[in-house]
Amino acid sequence: MRAILVAAMLAATMGTAAADGAQVYDSSCAFCHQSGGVGVPGQFPRLAGRVGVIASKPEGKAFLSKVLLNGMSGRIVADGEPVLGIMPPFDTLSDDDIAAVLTYLSGLDHAPVTFTAREVGEARAQPRISPTEIVTQRAALSDRKIVP
Ligand code: HEC
Repeated sequence: MRAILVAAMLAATMGTAAADGAQVYDSSCAFCHQSGGVGVPGQFPRLAGRVGVIASKPEGKAFLSKVLLNGMSGRIVADGEPVLGIMPPFDTLSDDDIAAVLTYLSGLDHAPVTFTAREVGEARAQPRISPTEIVTQRAALSDRKIVP
């Protein structure tokens, strides 16, 4: 009985097998994109309220997994401000962690969109592309109003 209680308390403090998107965000992303995904205008794009919009279209959803797996570097416009920055690839994160962090971000100032580890795995199985190629793909999605 006592052992079960201890195990339950450990599970509660250490986190269960399911990845915690907020925790992944705080340890891997908040340094640049700021707590709560508010961003820094002209430097780090705002993610709160934008990831959910991007993720609500299938092409946008696939794009988001690719950003995390390949990184992103080059000139973009986010919230009307030009950004010329570099985001490193986060391909060392597991499919579960990437799915969890994108699901978490989509739900900030927007109805959450569920990303599955399987979807991230499918993106990972595609050939790697350069961080500058991601910017080219973003431009096409931006023209189609998929990326605000
Ligand atoms: C070292 C700083 C840094 C870290 C850490 C970082 N990012 Fe980024 N991120 C950037 C920059 C800079 C850009 C824009 C790149 C550009 O200007 O081409 C960006 C772009 C993005 C975009 C695309 C936004 C758009 O409008 O197309 C997403 C999504 C994103 N980051 C999510 C994340 C997530 C999730 C994490 C954590 C796993 C993370 N970032 C960690 C700096 C960072």
